[in-house]
Amino acid sequence: MVSRSLVCRRIVPSLGNGSRSSLSKFGRCWGYTSQAASSLLQACEPSVYSTRKEEDEYADVDWDNLGFGLMPTDYMYQMKCGQNGTFERGQVKPYGNIELSPSAGVLNYGQGLFEGLKAYRKENGSLLLFRPDQNAIRMKVGADRMCMPAPSVEQFVDAVRETALANSRWVPPPGKGSLYIRPLLIGSGPILGLAPAPEFTFLIYASPVSNYFKEGTAPLSLYVEDEFDRASRGGTGGIKTITNYAPVLKALGRAKSRGFSDVLYLDSVDKKNLEEVSSCNIFVLKGNVLSTPTTKGTILSGVTRKSIIQISRDLGYQVEERAIPVEELMEAEEVFCTGTAVVVASVGSITYKDKRIEFRTGAQTACQRLYDILVGIQMGQIKDKYGWIVEIN
Ligand SMILES: Cc1ncc(COP(=O)(O)O)c(C=O)c1O
Repeated sequence: MVSRSLVCRRIVPSLGNGSRSSLSKFGRCWGYTSQAASSLLQACEPSVYSTRKEEDEYADVDWDNLGFGLMPTDYMYQMKCGQNGTFERGQVKPYGNIELSPSAGVLNYGQGLFEGLKAYRKENGSLLLFRPDQNAIRMKVGADRMCMPAPSVEQFVDAVRETALANSRWVPPPGKGSLYIRPLLIGSGPILGLAPAPEFTFLIYASPVSNYFKEGTAPLSLYVEDEFDRASRGGTGGIKTITNYAPVLKALGRAKSRGFSDVLYLDSVDKKNLEEVSSCNIFVLKGNVLSTPTTKGTILSGVTRKSIIQISRDLGYQVEERAIPVEELMEAEEVFCTGTAVVVASVGSITYKDKRIEFRTGAQTACQRLYDILVGIQMGQIKDKYGWIVEIN
């Protein structure tokens, strides 16, 4: 039986933001439009509660067959900022379409950023966020580059927490996946001449997910792209602007149609050094030396990358952040990718100029060891000596 306090405790924090302080007010103010939303309200009615079973705590999802597709959840978060540059108090609201002027800055000039992080469900039912402050900081850095104001780190983390709690029934059972949380910051105000938008919107939505690649946890096959560039010096490759992503679709689609899992990009100046994959960072292992390309403005500084560097050093690997010539792949023993969505994904082969290079994969690899430790921390199964986990309930 689900205890009343359990379910209500999860919903009430999302009411605490703004002026909503009671369940009845909650129902009135939010004007339920979706069936999912009204069933969540019902979940807090004592009469409904008493007959609810443990399983009702979960949304009706086939948890064993989750992939990485959008599955809309009950709620999203929205917070606006006008020309004074300050974000007003945000609110959790039923998930749905948003209205934008055709002349919104984001639609016309691509003034937008996104983030991605995950909430895991621990065995005891509480939810765990992994280093949400790092996503908040990265959004602030990106916002500065894109001439947008950003929520404070505290506002960002609170908003993520509220979104996760409001959608808690969509967080998969332990071991079945996670709730992928997608914060967005967009120039939502109307503008005609090229300039920053006069209004900005911070939004968060979420979707339950499991493996990112269709390969599941099987090793990836990467294709080294030497025609299209992902980023250029002085550009925006180092931030998570929405404008970095549509341009890689061409190369990604071409690689996928040839049977590859993803694309590995080279630096745009010499086409010589490894940069990163479409949505993740890359690591190369030889002996005890674990190398990853330096983030100098063209590569996203991944939260997972940073965490794997720390864990690897603590395990005794010599970690080098440096330029890695593509030829070095010939000598590499292991290659793997890191990212919130992909976690730590083993690379079985990389194809460069029609030459296929293969790497060690399987249970006895450094990749597997690092995956186990990282995911163990993220799921609350391994003690978090780093202080990375934010437990919410
Ligand atoms: C281009 C790119 N590189 C790397 C990453 C990995 O970053 P993180 O580990 O913070 O998810 C991502 C995903 O966010 C990405 O889009």
